[in-house]
Amino acid sequence: MVQTPTIVGNWKMFKTQEEAVAFVLELASRLECVKKIVEHLPSVGLAVPFTALAAASKAAAGTFVRIGAQNMHDADAGAYTGEISCAMLQDAGADFVIIGHSERRHLFGESDVFLNKKITQAKKNGMKVIFCVGENLQEREEGRLLEILSRQIQLGLQGVGDIDPAKLLVAYEPVWAIGTSKAATPQEAQEAHALCRQELKRTFGPIADKIPILYGGSVTGGNIGSFLGEPDVQGVLVGGASLDIEKFWQIIEIALTGAQYLG
Ligand code: PGA
Repeated sequence: MVQTPTIVGNWKMFKTQEEAVAFVLELASRLECVKKIVEHLPSVGLAVPFTALAAASKAAAGTFVRIGAQNMHDADAGAYTGEISCAMLQDAGADFVIIGHSERRHLFGESDVFLNKKITQAKKNGMKVIFCVGENLQEREEGRLLEILSRQIQLGLQGVGDIDPAKLLVAYEPVWAIGTSKAATPQEAQEAHALCRQELKRTFGPIADKIPILYGGSVTGGNIGSFLGEPDVQGVLVGGASLDIEKFWQIIEIALTGAQYLG
């Protein structure tokens, strides 16, 4: 079976609508050119700021670029000043949503229980989720990797019920590797991904083998190849290097040439 990697950019709080559209159009045209010479493209997504969602989705319509959001609220609607619902994201053209990014957990105090409600709501709405997990440096140094990943996965996905593996991706993002230029080694990533897979199997059974697990944390064109060589790494979630088209394209090119046939 051919399993193409998934490459998702997380733009965080960067880019105006105009910048987003220019980036999407350039990326889409490069993917279009490459598609003429390769059989399988990687799956490419961009998680853009809310304000750029509608414009970026429109620019990406009919192309190989998928547009998503970086967060959502768990309620259908209501008096939640400053929040945005899953239905609103879908109305703006979002194809997926990131839930539980470490910046949401640590800077905005989002708990496992709150994240679980968001995932449940996304599932109810048929929205594809990239669910982020990962330990901080202290937890790693205390030898608590399994405990942390297990807690985040068990609580985050509790009661979610049967899943469609096409609608759920997990991103392992060690907090100490995010935005630090200090990526995990491929071995560290593989070890953590295998633990994630084990916990996903405890929750969902054998279908968990089909859930893509992305690595995130200081991914660049220089290290993506080594991550994609690991058996439990099905792609990457890219922050800083996704803001620059040349850097992001370099990552995609390596995914294309180095790891097109993973399965
Ligand atoms: P980084 O961010 O690639 O800049 O380390 C990754 C992320 O936060 O998803």
